[in-house]
Amino acid sequence: MLRLALILPNGDVREVQAEPGFSLLVAVQDAGIDALPGVCNGCCSCGTCLVRIDQVSEQDLSPCYPGEQQILAKLSAGEKNRLACQVMVSSTLAGGQITLLGKSRPGKHAGD
Ligand code: FES
Repeated sequence: MLRLALILPNGDVREVQAEPGFSLLVAVQDAGIDALPGVCNGCCSCGTCLVRIDQVSEQDLSPCYPGEQQILAKLSAGEKNRLACQVMVSSTLAGGQITLLGKSRPGKHAGD
């Protein structure tokens, strides 16, 4: 298990245990944090699991495939933003600063 430090939408920091190889969204939901609705259950279609990942090189994260890039573009997401359902937990991620943004865009879906 790895320890991840998450910044919640209200600014609080919460440390959670995460299983390598599972998605960041699963780690957040398993910790009982409801900040990332994940409406599509990780199918990379809703955009409600948006996070910002700082202090980690994008090249060290799991790849951002075209489907995720398309959703991020529709959300006008910044370059440090990723979809938590598409980012795998790894030791690299454990060294990052992860800000949960999913609910800061209420009602906003990629297809809207
Ligand atoms: S849970 Fe829907 S895009 Fe990640």
